[in-house]
Amino acid sequence: MIEVSALHKRFGSFSAVHDVNFTVERGQVLGFLGPNGAGKSTTMKLITGYYRPTSGRVHVNGLDTHRHTRRMQRELGYLPEGAPAYGDMTVAHYLTFIAHCRGLSRKLSKTRLRAVSEQLELDDVLSQRIETLSKGFKRRVGIAQTLVHDPKVLVLDEPTDGLDPNQKQQVRELIRSLSADKTVILSTHILEEVESVCHRALIIAHGKVLADSTPGALARQSRYCGAVTLELPNARQAAALLNALPEVESVEFSIDNPQRFTVLPAPDAPLFVAIQAKLASKGWAPAAMSVESGRLDDVFQRITRPNAVEVRL
Ligand SMILES: Nc1ncnc2c1ncn2[C@@H]1O[C@H](COP(=O)(O)OP(=O)(O)OP(=O)(O)O)[C@@H](O)[C@H]1O
Ligand SMILES: [Mg+2]
Repeated sequence: MIEVSALHKRFGSFSAVHDVNFTVERGQVLGFLGPNGAGKSTTMKLITGYYRPTSGRVHVNGLDTHRHTRRMQRELGYLPEGAPAYGDMTVAHYLTFIAHCRGLSRKLSKTRLRAVSEQLELDDVLSQRIETLSKGFKRRVGIAQTLVHDPKVLVLDEPTDGLDPNQKQQVRELIRSLSADKTVILSTHILEEVESVCHRALIIAHGKVLADSTPGALARQSRYCGAVTLELPNARQAAALLNALPEVESVEFSIDNPQRFTVLPAPDAPLFVAIQAKLASKGWAPAAMSVESGRLDDVFQRITRPNAVEVRL
């Protein structure tokens, strides 16, 4: 549905997007993750036809975004960063205006206004001026605006930024439900959002794609994949003993519980069994013991920090 090949964008001598390549299948939700200034918004602006690429191509549903910009944009809904809107318009007026810009008939505009207003729970604020809305409602109006013409593709730049936890959850559920018949690209700084909503994630830094994988596969690259967290009354003594095992890379103590610590595995080491055997040999029974599937934040930090080590993905 979306094909990005050899995409470059320079601002003067500065390279904001550098040789970005990826595809998104129909019905997929793709997450852009990356530190501030990584090039996420710029890549989105290139996909939506807002910016012209310095070189490279983007196709949306087979249409070149540079050569068939208007036709491509009809298939696409775009929430720019910060959800800008015309503050002095009422919500109903604004969404009707967008429907008009999108070329919808008066009758269809009314039907779609009702539909998106219900989807985003905007019924109570339809006659309120946008500048008087809370941040959460403004964001919902911004998302409603992307859906008015029922596009096949959505590009959402930080759709849950600044929302309270309940509203974040609502918007995530909405995105999940939309992906039944739409292809979605979203950007976020919230790693758990990627895990809960996205089928795939791109980690972008300095304008380059550094990882392209499923959230689960990314998390499995973490040093915490297979790590074992234990709770024992003699935690210090047990941690020192376990740290000496060849299967153990290191041990980290919990900040809030002196009896809890996490044992990180050496590469490809069967840690759980080794720990069980060692504890049994001492007759120590842990109050709790759990194995981790990995931490996306650990992988993100290792890949994107300035002196990042190379992570094979
Ligand atoms: N119009 C422009 N002119 C010059 N530089 C720009 C322009 N737009 C973006 N940049 C630069 O390109 C880089 C990437 O910016 P971009 O907004 O894409 O980052 P981002 O990943 O979306 O960051 P954030 O997480 O903070 O939103 C930044 O260094 C930014 O200053
Ligand atoms: Mg941005």
